[in-house]
Amino acid sequence: MELLKQRILSDGRALDEHVLLVDSFLNHQVDVKLMQAVGAEFARRFADDGVTRIATIESSGIAPAAMTALAMDLPMVIMKKSVSSILRDGILQTEVFSFTKNLAYQLTLKKDFILPGDRVLLIDDFLANGEAAFGGFKLIEEAGGIPVGLGAVIAKVFQAGRDKLLAAGYRVEALAPVKRMSEGVIEFE
Ligand code: G4P
Repeated sequence: MELLKQRILSDGRALDEHVLLVDSFLNHQVDVKLMQAVGAEFARRFADDGVTRIATIESSGIAPAAMTALAMDLPMVIMKKSVSSILRDGILQTEVFSFTKNLAYQLTLKKDFILPGDRVLLIDDFLANGEAAFGGFKLIEEAGGIPVGLGAVIAKVFQAGRDKLLAAGYRVEALAPVKRMSEGVIEFE
């Protein structure tokens, strides 16, 4: 997606070979118009896949997922990273380990919000090692849903996530696949 790539080049910053800072438009300050275009692009790519529901993982996935849900006129569900005291019954959980943040969390979904047979498109801001996506797909499947694929706004394709997901049979659409980074340099696939 050219508009997104240009924005990453103009306003993003590679801190080193691993970390891309995009907090001025994606995961701290959010450019909602850009997210609207992102949602329209995911809607276009998954238009023929019979998607019935959008899922995402809090928090930075929410903006692109909401815009995708709006563009496709579908309901959206947010998987949580912690369980509140009022969310106890009828929940599904799986542990996700984040290599980037070096911490584990319990990805949590209330069963009622994915119906058996739902065809679910998972949207997230970053794809790195794929752990969050694998956890999300696992919960979708446990709820009886069918994972249609992952839509990642940015995929660091030099990390293992995309290849592992493809090898497991999941579809991956990345709007900005980054193949190489170093301080001040960002190269797309
Ligand atoms: P994985 O799910 O693909 O295995 O990825 P990993 O755990 O390694 O990293 C996931 C978290 O780290 C996500 O944030 C993701 O947005 C963030 N992240 C990974 N690589 C980058 C990067 O290069 N730049 C930035 N800015 N973030 C990165 P999260 O824990 O889900 O936090 P939130 O912002 O969604 O709340």
